[in-house]
Amino acid sequence: LQVDASNATGRPIPETLFGIFFEEINHAGAGGLWAELVSNRGFEAGGQIIPSSIWPWSIIGDESTISVVTDRSSCFERNKIALRMEVLCNSSGCPSGVGVYNPGYWGMNIEEGKKYKVTLYVRSTGDIDVSVSLTSSNGSLTLASEQIIALASEVSKWTKKEMLLEANGTDDGARLQLTTTKNGSIWFDQVSAMPVDTYKGHGFRNDLFQMMVDLKPRFIRFPGGCYVEGAWLSNAFHWKETVGAWEERPGHFGDVWKYWTDDGLGHFEFFQLAEDLGAAPIWVFNSGISHHDQVETARIMPFVQEALDGIEFARGDANSTWGSVRAAMGHPKPFGLKYVAVGNEDCWQKYTYYKGNYLVFYNAIKKAYPDIKIISNCDGSSQPLDHPADYYDFHVYKPSKELFSMSHKFDNTSRDGPKAFVSEYAAKSETDANKGNLLAALGEAGFLLGLEKNSDVVGMVSYAPLFLNTNDRGWIPDAIVFNSSHLYGTPSYWVQQFFTESSGATLLSSTMEGNSSYVEASAISFQSNGSDYIQIKAVNFANVTVELKVKMTGLDSSNTKVSAKKKKVLTSASVMDENSFLQPRDDCATRNLGGDARDVCSRALLLFIIR
Ligand code: AHR
Repeated sequence: LQVDASNATGRPIPETLFGIFFEEINHAGAGGLWAELVSNRGFEAGGQIIPSSIWPWSIIGDESTISVVTDRSSCFERNKIALRMEVLCNSSGCPSGVGVYNPGYWGMNIEEGKKYKVTLYVRSTGDIDVSVSLTSSNGSLTLASEQIIALASEVSKWTKKEMLLEANGTDDGARLQLTTTKNGSIWFDQVSAMPVDTYKGHGFRNDLFQMMVDLKPRFIRFPGGCYVEGAWLSNAFHWKETVGAWEERPGHFGDVWKYWTDDGLGHFEFFQLAEDLGAAPIWVFNSGISHHDQVETARIMPFVQEALDGIEFARGDANSTWGSVRAAMGHPKPFGLKYVAVGNEDCWQKYTYYKGNYLVFYNAIKKAYPDIKIISNCDGSSQPLDHPADYYDFHVYKPSKELFSMSHKFDNTSRDGPKAFVSEYAAKSETDANKGNLLAALGEAGFLLGLEKNSDVVGMVSYAPLFLNTNDRGWIPDAIVFNSSHLYGTPSYWVQQFFTESSGATLLSSTMEGNSSYVEASAISFQSNGSDYIQIKAVNFANVTVELKVKMTGLDSSNTKVSAKKKKVLTSASVMDENSFLQPRDDCATRNLGGDARDVCSRALLLFIIR
């Protein structure tokens, strides 16, 4: 590899090149990043009809002691369903209590010494004595508990109760119980249990948030993906239903990834997340098109207004209609929204109103917010777009070998016109990856090196999907795998860490000599803490060892002292190896390889840093 280290022949890489894409998929948010422990907290998951499914709530007691139904008596107008519990204990009572429990999302992670804020709404025709407890998975062990004792006069109308429970034990499969030993009718609604310890108290699970921070994302695209489109428009993400007090959010069934979300992680929280990450928010909104139905262009205006209102929510001052809603939620200062994407993958559909709809969105947004950059989802990589856009969206999911060879995909793209936003890429095929193996990561590394080198026409890049709750394998592979208490990065996650210095760096001119088409490399220079660095990344996708010699010219020897060299290697004994909860960072270094480690670790991604 011949590298010209003088910045003179280099080219600046966009400040926003590498970011992340957060989609509500695989329970990434509900049961993931959003730290709410209760699933289906308002009992609406079965829909607004009764009788309604209360899953995953379950009953403690039998038919002779308790009957549980839903009705439409809630005090919250947008989510009328409430739970009614009829306790029928006989004269000897129910000494251990009857009631309901919520197991959260495959078990709640309760940790000794930590505090949990439980909020619920209750109503009754008589006096109540309800025990609110966090217990082990079968209820046998109490980890924290408090009583709600109230006279009928106090709870004859819906009453909010809040309490702080401190855990005296640890269990990552815990549950929340509401039980009583007293006969009578009790209604519950909007039951929440939040760990007090979330990022800045903003509701984000700390360990998952940190994994995002470590990628140093320059932007975050949200909230989908197909999640934005919906299988049907009625189940798409409608941002207005996700703002305001959490108790008043109706929640919705995401019918593409097929699960209910209480929408605690809503429009406001996504912008808060971007701000907390120091990443530019990229909001994707519905373009009037789902997987199965669409709105014709002549009737698209209500969708356009919804998008404009959503932008005003983020950017408007505290006196504007929607800016005031944001301010009331605790963020009077506008969020810095500068990018929006009109829909997701809609231009690809065979019969689509996308282009017509897109133009109406484009004109309306540019008129109201000329500085906002607008992303079309028509592909402009092979031929120029036939409509105005600031970026075009490009998605690619291919087997690792094919993805590796796509490192040259943008070499011949026209240098004029909008840049590509590669907002979804991953090596994906049945044989390549389970939850994400090294082979997939090497294919992605080659592809990313090509994007870095073509960053004059590729403006932004993000992997997809970011998160997988291991209990809901809706889409694999993914970058970060987690359960209620543990997590690990797949090799694809660690590949992204090799690119954390690239955004805003200088791409150095480099040439590869030799005849391996399975080796890709790039060189960049950047500054950090007042020092200059050169970073060389190389990936070997071949199944043989390749000797790599690096020759560097253009270093000013009078000025340059190579004072430190760092080498980082992503490799494993077998390219089919994956990380796991038990071995979250497995690699050659941690294995007892024996023999010639260089041979078995021959396919690898390398990173040299020279200061
Ligand atoms: O990343 C998973 C899905 O892949 C996204 O929701 C969609 O945009 C793409 O088809």
